[in-house]
Amino acid sequence: MSGIKTQVVVPGPVIIGAGLAGLSCAIELAPAPCLVVAAGRIGTGTSTGWAQGGMAAAIGPDDSPELHATDTIAAGAGLCEESVVRRITAAAPSAIDWLATLGARWDRDQDGGLKRGLEGAHSRRRIVHASGDDTGAELLRATAEAARELASISIWERVHARRLVTSRGRVVGVDVDTAEGTIRLLCSAVVLATGGIGGLFTHTTNPLTSYGQGMAMAYRAGAVLRDVELVQFHPTALNLDVDPLPLVSEAVRGEGAILVNELGERVLDNPLLARDVVARAEWTQLQAGHSIYLDVRDAPGARFAEIFPSIHAKACAAGLNPVTDLLPVTPAAHYHMGGVLVDRRGQSTVPGLFAIGEVASTGLHGANRLASNSLLEAVVCGRATAQYLRTIPLGSATGRTVGDRVFDESGSPDVDPRLTQIRQIVTARAGLLRNASGLLKALEELRPYLDHDAGLIGYLLVSGALERTESRGAHTRTDFPTTADPRHTVVSATLLKGRAA
Ligand code: SIN
Repeated sequence: MSGIKTQVVVPGPVIIGAGLAGLSCAIELAPAPCLVVAAGRIGTGTSTGWAQGGMAAAIGPDDSPELHATDTIAAGAGLCEESVVRRITAAAPSAIDWLATLGARWDRDQDGGLKRGLEGAHSRRRIVHASGDDTGAELLRATAEAARELASISIWERVHARRLVTSRGRVVGVDVDTAEGTIRLLCSAVVLATGGIGGLFTHTTNPLTSYGQGMAMAYRAGAVLRDVELVQFHPTALNLDVDPLPLVSEAVRGEGAILVNELGERVLDNPLLARDVVARAEWTQLQAGHSIYLDVRDAPGARFAEIFPSIHAKACAAGLNPVTDLLPVTPAAHYHMGGVLVDRRGQSTVPGLFAIGEVASTGLHGANRLASNSLLEAVVCGRATAQYLRTIPLGSATGRTVGDRVFDESGSPDVDPRLTQIRQIVTARAGLLRNASGLLKALEELRPYLDHDAGLIGYLLVSGALERTESRGAHTRTDFPTTADPRHTVVSATLLKGRAA
């Protein structure tokens, strides 16, 4: 209890994170009460807010959830759990409808039907967008507004979750830091909706604040983490001198854009192959001293600004006119397939601890996530966890809330020099291409940083990459270029202690 200023008993679960997964969970819980704690103001920031690609759903007459599942499993390179894939792809059309009932404005054609875009490794046009390439921002707006209107949802903003509180092997609360000091929240369950780990890499499309804090808390509380080494690198981040890098959605290639090098040679005949394949093809050229560009001049050409207003604005801000200029691109860390191992209810291996969205490893994505399946997973799994939580004691209590609070900023965080070093190590040694000698060096280099969330997760990522002596999906070992028998890697502080004993 040292350093804890106040203790608050929350009637119901605490949801850490206010992206699409966390807010979907909170909304679905209603009228059962919950507390959502967010690092910023809700409706702003978060990986959700940055998502350009839409939500994949088999809604076309030429499509079916089975086809969507088949594409997901093919991209996942042998590590998807088929029952999970089938459940989530089957729920996709109703997830679109549910978000529409909350007020999400999906892009529609003249007849009112949902427009359907194409992205890599999808065999059908099934990507549903909102506000063109600003889908995540629109979904965040709709869910944040819906959450604010529900009396059952208390929202605390500018609150930083630091550690899980356990008692007799169960998570019973979480300590959060605020401008007013550390507050202990005691609750029926903690739901992690904390996002991914792109911030561990120097080239990323994620908010820099995403470097695995939720996973680190779960690990320290004894939860099993799975496939931590599996990181997806998106092939087309705008290659500018900024950090993080702006994404150029795969949907741009879905509209006909091609990838070329500075000689005008195509990087791949089909630029819409699975992300890992495209990213590796680019990387090979970059290593050979070439530069890579996205050429949108012929297709989508003059329609670019209309279809992709947000990307167009970002390119123009960098002095690039997509209709006349080639757009310099590079692979960048984009999505984490690994995470806290959970079952279909989002339950981790520690009672009282749940995980939803990118921080979770559900079995949907396997070794390589299919484009636009992440917003889908966030909604479907956020709601499924809420439906379960409503059935357990306290989670079903009604009528009492702890009320909303907006804490002051706790001071603008200085650049963390240790985080900068960790990012450099992880990027240099555990990026798109990995090998034993680099990974072993990384373990040594990261050892002094194990007390840092980023250092711990970087270390576990590198350990998993060493243990996975094969190349599969997004994980490429230059010293093990072929695929071995499919298996997951798992790690937990409890397992390691057991091994040491
Ligand atoms: C993109 O628009 O290319 C990103 C979509 C996604 O990551 O699923």
